[in-house]
Amino acid sequence: METSKRGQWGSSFGFLMASIGSAIGLGNLWGFPYKMGKTGGFAFLVIYLILVALVGIVLMLGEFALGRKTGKGAGGAYTALAKKYSFIGYMAVISPFLILAFYAVLGGMVLRYCLGFLVQLFGVDGFAGQGSGFFSWLLYSEQSMLLFLLLFLVCTMVIVMGGIKGGIEKFSKAVMPALGVILVVIIVFVALQPGAIEGYKFMFQPDFSLFADGASFFEVLKTASGQMFFSLSVAMGINITFGSYLSKEKKLQRNAVMVPLFDTLFALLAGMMILPACAAFGVDYAQGPGLLFASMQKVFLDGMGGTAGNLMGFLFYFLVFIAAITSSIALLEVLTAAVVDRQLDKGKEPKRKKTALVFAVLIFAIGIPVALDALGRGGAAIQAPYELLGLTPDSPGYAMWNDCWLDFYDMITEGILMPLGALLMSLLLGWVFPNLVKDECEVSGHRFKGAAYFKFCFRFVIPVVMLLVLATQIQSFFL
Ligand code: PFF
Repeated sequence: METSKRGQWGSSFGFLMASIGSAIGLGNLWGFPYKMGKTGGFAFLVIYLILVALVGIVLMLGEFALGRKTGKGAGGAYTALAKKYSFIGYMAVISPFLILAFYAVLGGMVLRYCLGFLVQLFGVDGFAGQGSGFFSWLLYSEQSMLLFLLLFLVCTMVIVMGGIKGGIEKFSKAVMPALGVILVVIIVFVALQPGAIEGYKFMFQPDFSLFADGASFFEVLKTASGQMFFSLSVAMGINITFGSYLSKEKKLQRNAVMVPLFDTLFALLAGMMILPACAAFGVDYAQGPGLLFASMQKVFLDGMGGTAGNLMGFLFYFLVFIAAITSSIALLEVLTAAVVDRQLDKGKEPKRKKTALVFAVLIFAIGIPVALDALGRGGAAIQAPYELLGLTPDSPGYAMWNDCWLDFYDMITEGILMPLGALLMSLLLGWVFPNLVKDECEVSGHRFKGAAYFKFCFRFVIPVVMLLVLATQIQSFFL
């Protein structure tokens, strides 16, 4: 009775697609290429891959197991272990809340670009007469930023209101395979452009010169770790929630390996699409969060041009939009499930629709500063945190406040809450409940292969890596 009220996945394939859909998103297509472009290409890639194997896969399995064992979303799962641990679950839920606020701003911008290219296909100027300079124009257009933030949130909310089987699963099943196909088409197109080879070299030619000083190593470690959490959607309760909708006969380990595998594959593909394109069309890799928008548009409008450029531009942003929506529905689902679980616990009728609406409104509100501070470029409708505090890049503590609201929310989540949550979770699963993951994996009747590897990572590897990441973050507050 209770299970049917909470909802359950219709099939393993649907669960896998929804998990992969949640994992693959702006983190892969927007975050990975720009972070790699900023932190030296190959060195970042190597650290990233090591982190996925040692931390990402292990945490993901831990979260699936915790969710399925307790049958609860993030909030309730830790409480079910023991009341004193409930704070870990609530901490986990703060991250999706803050992330969705900036995710929806970016998603809204993606939607704006997509529509811009669409109308250009019909001969109408879709970029306010700005051509490839549209990015700077859009950042200062308050109405557009707010309107598209709202539109993106409404799309997300409508799907989540549909519930587990009817909404999220159906949508993910249809769009995820299409996404892969469109991506490959663009990669092939980019590969045929002269000069693209430099982009592949940047990604894959061994080069560790960046690590000549230790500080850069820790910076790359911190960036790669944040990217890993964000991209795999671990350490924020999402997989606990998804696992809780999973029936006992499903094999957990397989999913915990498949999701990171596909996610990493998509990140690499996104890199292989964007970085060689930058090389071919003379765009700077290291330009930061604007890379996806500013430079890809240059590629489509100035590089390719004409109908082909508009068509590729439309396909590309449509692909990014789809990926972003399948992630944002997961983010909103975590929040909604946390409240629906509480309503069920109290014996009340769950109010899924109303809960999703309330969260969407709250997220819109905290998304406003992100939408209106022009990514910290100054002179915007809303001041960035550092401007409000009167800090300059030389002021001590400047790094803590970062340079725009997006980075600020990102720093709180990727830099603090997620590594801290991962640290606490691995200590719990490694030392306090050492058999929980193994037992839950074996409920399906399959022997848990690799149990020793997982245990070792929970006990030692994850705590040490997370402490290093947290120390690097804390140190940056004082620099
Ligand atoms: N993993 C998503 C991405 O790479 O864009 C972001 C995300 C989705 C994070 C869902 C968390 C989540 F629950």
